[in-house]
Amino acid sequence: MRTLRIFFCCLVPLGVVTAQPAIPPAWGNDPEIESKIDTLMRRMTLDEKVGQLITYSAGAPTGPGTGRSDYKEMIAKGQLGSLFNLVGADETNAMQKIAVEKSRLHIPLIFGLDIIHGFRTEFPVPLGLSATWNPELVERAAAVAAKEARRAGVHWTYSPMVDIARDARWGRIIEGAGEDPYLVSAMAAAYVRGYQGTKLSNPDSIAACAKHFVGYGAAEGGRDYNVSEIPQRLLRQVYLPPFRAAADAGVATFMSAFEALNEVPASANASTITQVLRQEWDFKGFVVSDWNSIGELVAQGVATSAAMAAQRAILAGVDMDMESNSYALNLAALVTSGAVSESVIDEAVRRVLRVKNAMGLFDHPYTEGKAQGDIAPEDQELAYKAAEESLVLLKNDGVLPLKAAEGKTIALIGPMADDAGQMLGSWSARGVASDVITLRTALTKQVEAGHGHVVYAKGTNLAGNSDSGFADAVAAAKKSDAVVLALGEDAPVMTGEAASRAHLDLPGNQQQLLEAVAAAGQPVILLIFSGRPLVLNWAAQHISAIMEAWYPGIQAGPALGNVLLGVSAPSGRLTTSFPRAVGQEPLYYSQFNTGRPARGVDLSYPPKNSIEKYLSRYIDVPNSALYPFGFGLTYSTITYSPTAVSATSVSAHALNVGTAKLTVSAEVHNMGSRAADEVVQLYIHQTGTSVVRPVRELKGFRRIELAPGASQKVEFRLGRDELKFWNIDMKDVVEPAELTVWVAPDSTQGEPAQVTIGQ
Ligand code: NOJ
Repeated sequence: MRTLRIFFCCLVPLGVVTAQPAIPPAWGNDPEIESKIDTLMRRMTLDEKVGQLITYSAGAPTGPGTGRSDYKEMIAKGQLGSLFNLVGADETNAMQKIAVEKSRLHIPLIFGLDIIHGFRTEFPVPLGLSATWNPELVERAAAVAAKEARRAGVHWTYSPMVDIARDARWGRIIEGAGEDPYLVSAMAAAYVRGYQGTKLSNPDSIAACAKHFVGYGAAEGGRDYNVSEIPQRLLRQVYLPPFRAAADAGVATFMSAFEALNEVPASANASTITQVLRQEWDFKGFVVSDWNSIGELVAQGVATSAAMAAQRAILAGVDMDMESNSYALNLAALVTSGAVSESVIDEAVRRVLRVKNAMGLFDHPYTEGKAQGDIAPEDQELAYKAAEESLVLLKNDGVLPLKAAEGKTIALIGPMADDAGQMLGSWSARGVASDVITLRTALTKQVEAGHGHVVYAKGTNLAGNSDSGFADAVAAAKKSDAVVLALGEDAPVMTGEAASRAHLDLPGNQQQLLEAVAAAGQPVILLIFSGRPLVLNWAAQHISAIMEAWYPGIQAGPALGNVLLGVSAPSGRLTTSFPRAVGQEPLYYSQFNTGRPARGVDLSYPPKNSIEKYLSRYIDVPNSALYPFGFGLTYSTITYSPTAVSATSVSAHALNVGTAKLTVSAEVHNMGSRAADEVVQLYIHQTGTSVVRPVRELKGFRRIELAPGASQKVEFRLGRDELKFWNIDMKDVVEPAELTVWVAPDSTQGEPAQVTIGQ
């Protein structure tokens, strides 16, 4: 075995570090915990140490299985410290009993599971949750998931996924909070606070895991597991901040990603794991690999054997091997041969034991099991609120809210209208379809209560090609006053992991169904259930109203019904740009300008003159999104005053040392006769800087409630944190610049104000 040397000096330079290290959570530096670990580790054999660095799936696999099942024997011998995908107090307690009573050192197991948007109480999928722009709500949802999971024996969730995703082809865009580092960071911290609570050892807390470290969302071509190439400044500016936010919020664990980042696999990447995470951010928890991502170092080509893969991963700082067998079969021998120093293993073991201690597992290894009963009413209510706030109204020619008066008939059509399972979305942990109230159930009840009538026709299947259901659907449409058409992507098949798409249209023959139903002549409200932005050009031109519903969870029906009927007003906003064509991907609002920007130019083709021709533009589609980041309609008219600033000049030095801040504000007015929630957004742009800056960057947001006719002044602070960026010298500082700020309803609107940032 060749000795791999990974010295700090050999790491790819990731920039001069000027940022403060994070303040580790109390458990990160607790002398009592550290001394307990010292005592324990003095007694551990090498085999027992390695055992703490391994986890296997003991339930339904969430990746290609290893075929291994001798977990009980391994646990009894102290050779396995963690299991995942095993759920239930009885099931986990039985395994824990082996660890605690049969193994020599009685070290408890930690049980993991992908709890992504709820355990039993299913909330909207993460992309939908992000569309609430409500971190406080997300925190509460995560706390519900933690409580339910912990009672079912689960200690550790592989969530939040904080990967920035800017390419709608990537199936896993559904698992995150969208394209923007500021918003994803806010959500990352909220999830961590919610899962972990005030203390990891609380009976209702579980350990969170920030994943996938790092750059996984930038998979080339949007193809899952593909390489990502992210220049250092972009990595620092866009992809790392949400992970930093999770670390700052005290997240207990990180998961290293599958992909090769800048040609170095993320699960063998010392630059990111050792240099950034451990040395710069002072992260004290442990890093688990992704499923077999250590084994896959061989296929990626940086290892020629599982032993070499293990060596690379442990030296890079990956503490725990998920599923690959590489650590189990090779780490001890690598230490014995001198290829890996035992001190490296010791550090990894210490990190794992630190988290187990912080969680109180040594004192309370067992789950006092109560079987999962009904969902608590307050949790149902929260699931409702989350579902309602996640719905994004993209178009409305006035047909919404529906007037479901006596004698009126609504045709409810489409494969999503009555499919409970689909509403749970992908990664639904222990969610059950019977907890879901579908749109058909809810809408029928509501409409009939008002003496109206709902006729239902499925029309087609999600990926169907048969038009045998079209005639019924069209007949239902014809005898109605309005049509609600529920279409979308088959959640478990077309969204999430290993579900990249090269086309972003409605799958199967749903577009044909849409056109056939629209031809019936009644106003159509199109509901889209998807895990990613779809291309909706035809609908945008021909359909009366469009609402993006994501997968809303157990309260899908009531939330949709209330919003459609105007009992509540839509208030979600996009956190990902909706393209006009797949060819625009990756598409995100926060682009850099070019020397030949095409904004504001009529994009007719052929171009009228040479000025129009030589622009950074497509010849066949505008550059802009069909529906931009931050966008969403409501039933009222909200206006914004021009953006106001507290000063028109400020010094970069004062901002850098923290003695200056700017206040930016606008008056937001509800002109209509209906109450509305508005998501007020703050954007900035800087010019005259040493490197190009995005045309707009989100730097603040606030969800406010506005009664009819009400106004509210919304104020934001801009200081060092919001204005700094990684400059030409790779220093994270505020530079002198011309600053434009907007307080706006989305990333394309608002009236700008100017500020000069002087020396
Ligand atoms: C692979 C996925 O990439 C990851 O997100 C997940 O947590 C693990 N499998 C475990 O299921």
